[in-house]
Amino acid sequence: MPNPTATTGSAAPREKLRVPVHLAVTMDGNRRWAEARGRPRPEGHREGIKALRRLVEYCLRYGVPYLTVFSFSSENWRRDKSEIEFIFKLMRAFVDSDLEKLKSNNIRIRILGERKELDAGLQKIIARVETETKGNTGLNLNVAFNYGGKAEIAAAARRIVQFVLEGRIKPEEIDEELFSRMLLTGGMPDPDLMLRTGGENRISNFLIWQSAYSELVFLDEYWPDFDESLFLKTLEIFSGRQRRFGGDGPEQ
Ligand code: IPE
Ligand code: MG
Repeated sequence: MPNPTATTGSAAPREKLRVPVHLAVTMDGNRRWAEARGRPRPEGHREGIKALRRLVEYCLRYGVPYLTVFSFSSENWRRDKSEIEFIFKLMRAFVDSDLEKLKSNNIRIRILGERKELDAGLQKIIARVETETKGNTGLNLNVAFNYGGKAEIAAAARRIVQFVLEGRIKPEEIDEELFSRMLLTGGMPDPDLMLRTGGENRISNFLIWQSAYSELVFLDEYWPDFDESLFLKTLEIFSGRQRRFGGDGPEQ
């Protein structure tokens, strides 16, 4: 019998949901959300933080071990200075208001991205967040901030060359596994599910190495509208996909 709650033909029923090991999310559509309501753009970013809080809650509730969110890309510097400052201010406020709760939920936070370009205050906050959650063993929350996938790959290549120059590794030892370890996500599983809200069907330089075999899900809804029903819809779509990793058999 057809499942009347299914949102696409291939979606799995809710009781058979598969939970991803590593969910990566591009939280897009904050400004359009605000514009659609005739509200100032910063309000969209403020609502976006609330949606991020909800996403973390769902990951804890449904047992997602790794969550990576795209919060500021290295390309976002092209925006108005005032908007950039506002986004940074929101991130600082988020740490102030939420860090204790994240810590008590046993969440380990890592910030992925280029730090040297950030002001000293932000660098200090990043160091604090990472140090204070280092010993936590629950949800791994990665916040991609001033992040770009191509820059991450170039940085990994520089590290590898350095190791070769120091004689610590031989060129013939460079393989995919070693390269993966040199990325900012080194030691973590690749995302099995990548979600982007906001209606754009693009990767936009997010985890481009790591997403080689990720299932991609694009939702039209703007990020501030992200709620539990959209989270479950995403899991349903994911659960209905068959991952073959280039092979042809049914998945193990
Ligand atoms: C995503 O929303 C949040 C950030 C990139 C900081 P946008 O700010 O890109 O909002 P839209 O896509 O223009 O609506
Ligand atoms: Mg956008």
